[in-house]
Amino acid sequence: MEATGGLYICSVLLILTEVSSEYIHIPSLVHHGMEGKPLLLSVETHFSLDEAEIQGTWSHTRPSGTRTTLVTFTKETAITDMMYRNRLLFREPNVSLLIQKLNTDDEGEYHLNLHIEFHNRTGLVNRERTVRVTVDVPVSTPVLEKSPSNPVVEDKANVTWTCSVERGTRVVFQWLRDNVALTPSDRYHFSQDNSTLFISPVRKEDKGTYRCLASNPVSQGRNSRAVELNVYYGPYNLEVNSVQGLRTGEVFTINPGELVFFECQADSNPPNSYVWISKNRNTSQIVTEGPRLEVRSYRLAQAEEYLCRAFNNVTQKQDEAQFTLVVASLGTEKEKHTQKGSPVSPLAAMAVCSSFVIGCMLLFFLRRTCHPKRVLMNIYNRPFAEQKRPHRSGHEDATEDFGIYEFVSIPGKMESAQASCRSLARLESIQDMHTTIYDVIRHVPETPSHSLLT
Ligand SMILES: *[C@@H]1O[C@H](CO)[C@@H](O)[C@H](O)[C@H]1NC(C)=O
Ligand SMILES: *[C@@H]1O[C@H](CO)[C@@H](O)[C@H](O)[C@H]1NC(C)=O
Ligand SMILES: *[C@@H]1O[C@H](CO)[C@@H](O)[C@H](O)[C@H]1NC(C)=O
Ligand SMILES: *[C@@H]1O[C@H](CO)[C@@H](O)[C@H](O)[C@H]1NC(C)=O
Ligand SMILES: *[C@@H]1O[C@H](CO)[C@@H](O)[C@H](O)[C@H]1NC(C)=O
Ligand SMILES: *[C@@H]1O[C@H](CO)[C@@H](O)[C@H](O)[C@H]1NC(C)=O
Repeated sequence: MEATGGLYICSVLLILTEVSSEYIHIPSLVHHGMEGKPLLLSVETHFSLDEAEIQGTWSHTRPSGTRTTLVTFTKETAITDMMYRNRLLFREPNVSLLIQKLNTDDEGEYHLNLHIEFHNRTGLVNRERTVRVTVDVPVSTPVLEKSPSNPVVEDKANVTWTCSVERGTRVVFQWLRDNVALTPSDRYHFSQDNSTLFISPVRKEDKGTYRCLASNPVSQGRNSRAVELNVYYGPYNLEVNSVQGLRTGEVFTINPGELVFFECQADSNPPNSYVWISKNRNTSQIVTEGPRLEVRSYRLAQAEEYLCRAFNNVTQKQDEAQFTLVVASLGTEKEKHTQKGSPVSPLAAMAVCSSFVIGCMLLFFLRRTCHPKRVLMNIYNRPFAEQKRPHRSGHEDATEDFGIYEFVSIPGKMESAQASCRSLARLESIQDMHTTIYDVIRHVPETPSHSLLT
């Protein structure tokens, strides 16, 4: 019901609008005219002038409110106001009005008042229409200026951008940085007419290519030339990286004798100058300058501190990154049985080796007797003294048979590195390194190993 009712109302409205818009039609009710150019206020008549008499006027209301009758016309004659005689053209048979050369005084509203009297019926038909006209001067190419003109230092300087046009009325300015429109913010201040942009204070992210865009109703956005803003900043995000070695937080572990390169990088404009400093036992000395450091070290189990310092000589700011270099055999390179290097603490060695032996024992029994119950029984039945003995005798043989790996956890981020049993023993002498033995006991099924240990 509602739908059909709506349809019905719609069709009635359609008929009504058709009826009301008959006889005359004005294609455009708003005109943006250009100064000096002609403007036609076009009117379409939807009846034949042979079947009717017409009489009407065109009048003009200025923005100030003064109203002038421009033309009074009938089918046969047209009387144009004397003041406008040279500037207006009203020509029969259609009732369109042509303004030959627009000037800013021609702005305002134009009213058409038309009476039609058809020959085939009595009574007058009256039609009134209003057309709005603006007159503008096209915009010339905008000129963009930056103050100060030289590069600026982040957080220390303000930048003022000015966009100006030589010609143009009702100019609207827009601002773009790297083709992205800029809007007001706590650091971006625009003048009333948007012709000035004030950046205070300037920051790294303000760096880029600026343009201003000027437009008005008769000119599409016209681009200024692009002007670069260069901002000196940094250093930021200082980082030390190396493709070699093993990195754990701020600790790099490298193989003995390996030539390792370290790169120091920071975001900065202009580019930083870099200095590498070695900090060893209370003495610090400059090792090299430039972003790259080359290190080759044989000194096992010696933690060496390095520091990369980046300095921006324009912003006068600097940043430092420190890291520790540890020389140790990495998991991939099986170390030969050489005994040089720093002495192993006997206590640590004993601890390592006893856990090692326990591990080996367990593995040994497990391998021989697959059933966990039997393993348990075998060990359990052995007298206590006998149980202790294989700890010593089993040590050397087991090295060949089973590879046991420990996890070395290093201060800083909780990441782990693999190292052989021996290299681990050496690392233990480094004080601030926590070593965790991750031995074979952990691989024995939970229940039997627990009962065994207790
Ligand atoms: C009215 O006449 C002018 C010439 O005087 C012509 O340019 C225009 O197209 C005509 N308009 C209509 C709607 O016929
Ligand atoms: C009179 O003529 C006009 C224009 O041709 C036409 O639209 C209208 O319907 C006619 N009216 C009558 C009552 O014949
Ligand atoms: C930058 O502008 C702020 C106000 O926004 C002003 O206090 C400061 O002195 C200006 N700095 C320079 C270097 O002109
Ligand atoms: C100035 O620009 C802003 C957008 O950045 C806009 O919202 C505002 O209307 C503009 N003002 C003028 C006077 O053009
Ligand atoms: C700043 O450092 C750059 C290299 O990073 C150098 O070319 C420039 O001369 C230095 N400027 C001053 C004023 O020291
Ligand atoms: C290193 O310097 C600190 C104080 O700066 C001092 O207490 C310490 O004894 C020094 N160590 C050595 C080995 O010189």
